[in-house]
Amino acid sequence: MRYRSIVAGCGSYLPERIVTNDELAQRLDTSDEWIVQRTGIRQRHVAASGELCSDLARRAAQGALASAGMTGRDLDLLIVATTTPDNTFPATAAKVQGQLGMIQGCAFDIQAVCSGFIYGLAVADNFLKTGQARSAMVIGAETFSRILDWSDRGTCVLFGDGAGAVLLQASTKAEPGDRGILSTHLHSDGRDYEMLMVDGGPSSTQTTGVVHMDGREVFRNAVNRLAEVVDEALTANHLTAADVDWLVPHQANRRIIDSMGRKLGLDPSKVVVTIDHHANTSAASVPLALAEAVGDGRIKPGQLVLMEAMGGGLTWGAGLVRW
Ligand code: UT7
Repeated sequence: MRYRSIVAGCGSYLPERIVTNDELAQRLDTSDEWIVQRTGIRQRHVAASGELCSDLARRAAQGALASAGMTGRDLDLLIVATTTPDNTFPATAAKVQGQLGMIQGCAFDIQAVCSGFIYGLAVADNFLKTGQARSAMVIGAETFSRILDWSDRGTCVLFGDGAGAVLLQASTKAEPGDRGILSTHLHSDGRDYEMLMVDGGPSSTQTTGVVHMDGREVFRNAVNRLAEVVDEALTANHLTAADVDWLVPHQANRRIIDSMGRKLGLDPSKVVVTIDHHANTSAASVPLALAEAVGDGRIKPGQLVLMEAMGGGLTWGAGLVRW
């Protein structure tokens, strides 16, 4: 029996508070002009005090369940990709599982920073394809504002909070139009561990720490490695960039997104861009962009969606989905 992972729904959640570049420029040596020119970011959402990663994750998951006409009881796998969990343990996924009334299967977190959603999608796809689960919720959720040094203009202007979720269901029959996840491709290279990292943790400092990044090196790696993994995904499916209806990239820097679009020869109108209003929401950025483009009617059933992301580790990956 051949299983396929079909997208059954998606949802998203953004905290209410919006912080503009101008607001940051009031307390930092930066400007709206610099941030927009170098990154494409105009604003970011920031979680309220007491608003947790699990709160964002739960609300995105509830949206995905509602869009599929399902409840938490229908799920037997729940993955939260996050680098900002509520607690060191248990997994944020366990809390969300309880809140959604999901009483079967398993729930766990995945830590691959900005690539976390693609990693979660790959893990869920493998669970569904092997018959180990039937309905999987993959959530990317971050309260990145909690691990920023708000006096470091080189990092704090780049990130935002939010969550996105995609609900997958196993199908045992051939789907009309070849719908479903075609393939996922994951990579990591631990030699670059220190290129983008948080300088704390339970085992090292017993503090949470804050983000540090060699921005130029991360940028260089992103442009090269994302191009490679996208090529790998298309080649594995005997497809070319001309077959792609939508590129949904990780939203780290507008210049990286534009470079990928140009490399693929895609018309800019086929690239989903949210970085201007979401900033970089790490593991949440791809599912947030998906939910936005599905919600406003751009992504339609049957269309070919190419996703990619790169983050700390370094980790990177891509996924091809016939929506
Ligand atoms: O999601 C995980 C993946 N993350 C990424 O992909 C991020 C990749 N990297 C980047 O997006 C870019 O490297 C940044 C946006 C982080 C930085 O842009 P850049 O063009 O590489 O700037 P830079 O770091 O080379 O800095 C250029 C100048 C520096 O000043 P000097 O030394 O030339 O005088 C910085 O101090 O810009 C300065 N600068 C700023 N100026 C105003 C850095 N941050 C700011 C700022 N406002 N916020």
